[in-house]
Amino acid sequence: MFVLIGCRKADFAPCSDHTSLQHAFDFPIGVAYEPAYALSDSSYRVISHYHFDQWTPENVMKWGAISFQPETYQWTEADAFVSTALQAGKKLHGHTLIWYRQEPDWLPFYQADARGWEQLLRSHIRTVMGRYRGMFRAWDVVNEAFLADGRLRPCIWLDKLGPEYLFIAYEEAAKTDPQALLFYNDFGMEDNPAKLRAVLRWVDQLRARGIRIDGIGLQMHIQLYYPDAARMGKTFFDIADHQLLLHLSELDIAVGDQLAKGNGSLSELWQKQANRYQTVVSMYSSLPRKSQYGITLWGVSDRYSWLRTADQPQESPLLWDDEYQPKPAFCALISN
Ligand code: XIL
Repeated sequence: MFVLIGCRKADFAPCSDHTSLQHAFDFPIGVAYEPAYALSDSSYRVISHYHFDQWTPENVMKWGAISFQPETYQWTEADAFVSTALQAGKKLHGHTLIWYRQEPDWLPFYQADARGWEQLLRSHIRTVMGRYRGMFRAWDVVNEAFLADGRLRPCIWLDKLGPEYLFIAYEEAAKTDPQALLFYNDFGMEDNPAKLRAVLRWVDQLRARGIRIDGIGLQMHIQLYYPDAARMGKTFFDIADHQLLLHLSELDIAVGDQLAKGNGSLSELWQKQANRYQTVVSMYSSLPRKSQYGITLWGVSDRYSWLRTADQPQESPLLWDDEYQPKPAFCALISN
């Protein structure tokens, strides 16, 4: 059963960000954390500590960021990230073990037979998860393995090992850290029943083989008017009904396309964005408690958003503006 609630249409008055966001919800509120910004920018550091109780490494634990030569690892940044987070009392969400992007430069040139490739896949998962065993609440074991039409995305692992690579990855992850929750993370499922169906069918196959998977991460890089809220809400409930935890794992709400089309000033669009954030969060809040793993924002301030590009210099999908003033979206969430 899905009920759309919380679509308040009033404007959100400016508010202060002295109240911590993490205390406004019954589930963890996470943020994508980038140590380089924290080093050079004290506002970034203060906000990510004060408002968020769970951190996902935005980049520093991707395979390409920790391995520059075959089967060797450079741990300095990843270790520093983990120890900063744990000292600050943060929960840790691992991102990501297997992804077709941000892979090591050497990977396409690796020479091995199928057995050797399987060993490489297993050894990567064992090495990274094993180093931090017991420290992470969960891992995105595989990221973005499915295409929009529900087929598997071509990637080096599909090429070398076939669809079996997905089973191998989760089997190895479950063996390596039995305490950590195992997620499959992807985009676009919130508005694509074919893709969602394919992923849930594959979850059934994993389970039929006795391999553990605990949850689905919907990235939720969404826009003001796309996808449709009711369709997103239905997807949330479909995932929960499948006995899976749901993580809104990379939430941001882009306004750049509307701005470019002249559909409102930035301040008008930020009010709409606040409503949209509130809708998403209230739909998530209406899920059964046991399905709510948490919501993670993909950044702190608009100034560092991954969506801010030369083409979209005013893109501003997050809760704090370039000067670290809380936006209407922050005020909407704190008063949820
Ligand atoms: C992005 C980071 O935010 C950027 O800094 C980086 O340049 C590219 O990757 N889906 C994911 C994330 O799973 O890892 C991506 O993060 C955004 C899309």
